[in-house]
Amino acid sequence: MTLAEDTRPASEGAMQGRHVLVTGAAGGLGQATVLGFLAAGATVHAIDTHPEKSAALTAAVHAAGQEARFTLAATDLADAGALTEALAEAQAARGGFDTLVNNAAIYPSKPFEEYSLAEHRAVQAVNVDAAIVAVQAALPHMRAAGRGRILNIASVTFYGGWAKLSPYVQSKGALVGLTRAWAREFGAYGITVNAIAPGAFPTDAEKIHPDPEGYTRFVLDHQAVKRRGAPEDIANALLFLASDAAGFITGQTLNVDGGWVMH
Ligand SMILES: NC(=O)c1ccc[n+]([C@@H]2O[C@H](COP(=O)([O-])OP(=O)(O)OC[C@H]3O[C@@H](n4cnc5c(N)ncnc54)[C@H](O)[C@@H]3O)[C@@H](O)[C@H]2O)c1
Repeated sequence: MTLAEDTRPASEGAMQGRHVLVTGAAGGLGQATVLGFLAAGATVHAIDTHPEKSAALTAAVHAAGQEARFTLAATDLADAGALTEALAEAQAARGGFDTLVNNAAIYPSKPFEEYSLAEHRAVQAVNVDAAIVAVQAALPHMRAAGRGRILNIASVTFYGGWAKLSPYVQSKGALVGLTRAWAREFGAYGITVNAIAPGAFPTDAEKIHPDPEGYTRFVLDHQAVKRRGAPEDIANALLFLASDAAGFITGQTLNVDGGWVMH
């Protein structure tokens, strides 16, 4: 099977009429997610502060002919006040988000002893607090509509307890916990909440590893599927969990990792 066949997207038009927020949208996994939701018919509001990656995302959206249903804002996700205001404005313009993809993350890497508490908190601000603010912003509309999809991006590192990434692993554990708590609380409103835990994908997040070839060997040794993950693998899983077909699935964390972690 070719990679294109193995990563074939969900059916076209499945997200028609949906208003989707994607944070960290210009990153390796975010870009494929934005393009996947646009191709499925959704309107997408993307947030990312990285100028070059944002320009590349905009170019990719134009190349796909999907710019009519796409907006991009350089809102700093670490600034909860600014994010609250920006989301209120974005929602006023489109009548509320019905689907959230809390995807942004930062991932500084060094031994635990070298992190200050402030550095730990700075990672939580982007990786966790921005998701909380997004849910606070979107919940009234979702409740009124009687439906909604909240999707949090966790990580395989939550299961493995990776070294030198303690604030990041802490943040992913928090997202898995919030996924369960929100699912329990919002289920009665027709809102499902799930997380995706990506395995190892060759994006910028991977550049923190000093030996890329050794790391690829390590990844393939651990995966059941003997190819590297593609960003479309994440987009496809998100599209499924966002779809009407997944309405009975909530509070779950789905590993999309080629069969690395099994539980
Ligand atoms: N790539 C992998 O192998 C992998 C593995 C496990 C989990 N993940 C998770 O997948 C998600 C996406 O990761 P990725 O690989 O695409 O990473 P990435 O670094 O390519 O993308 C993250 C994006 O978030 C943006 N961002 C960071 N801080 C921001 C801020 N304060 N305001 C606005 N934007 C901000 C960055 O500009 C970047 O474009 C993350 O949650 C990551 O933890 C990735």
